[in-house]
Amino acid sequence: MKNIVILISGGGSNMAALVRAARQGGWRERLGAQVAAVISNRPDAGGLALAREQGIPAEVVDHKAYEGREAFEADLAAAIDRYAPALVVLAGFMRILTPTFVGRYAGRLVNIHPSLLPAFPGLHTHRRALEAGCRVAGVTVHLVTAELDHGPILEQAVVPVLRGDTEQSLAARVLTQEHIIYPRAVEALLRQEGR
Ligand code: GAR
Repeated sequence: MKNIVILISGGGSNMAALVRAARQGGWRERLGAQVAAVISNRPDAGGLALAREQGIPAEVVDHKAYEGREAFEADLAAAIDRYAPALVVLAGFMRILTPTFVGRYAGRLVNIHPSLLPAFPGLHTHRRALEAGCRVAGVTVHLVTAELDHGPILEQAVVPVLRGDTEQSLAARVLTQEHIIYPRAVEALLRQEGR
């Protein structure tokens, strides 16, 4: 079985979309794949309860309990590796990862970022797109490399920026697309030979 481990920090709507796609799309039967676990760096992440409701093991590795990034990542990697994952999927996981961690999962670490990369890496993407006067915005799924919000692009979706948009209205329009393209990109990765 190809195990997928999903890392979250918050509400987990992308994680929920992936779990739904796996169930409704028959990933277990068609692709021999399953969402094996959800791990959060925040104990209060809403997505933890969502995962448990679906019968998926949900764990916390609280970054605040560690002195430094390396110690946190060592325990995070240990938690992930227990599932021997074919893919590690970042779904609103809001910690910067060291090159060591990224290297450990090279080629099987994937992220979703709410902008049309390479535009607007980092935080507050929707606010920055509005301030820049962008006429379109969007979302990118990419393989993770050591550089923040960089790496080979797997999928993108574009949405219009409408007159009167706020950060919230634009974020909601983008999020709807996130829930469509993330499962599609992950399914395509699972289909790749040798994974
Ligand atoms: C999503 O919009 C995702 O693209 C973004 O956080 C949100 C998480 O929502 N990720 C990043 O900004 C990563 N740089 P969710 O918890 O409901 O999936």
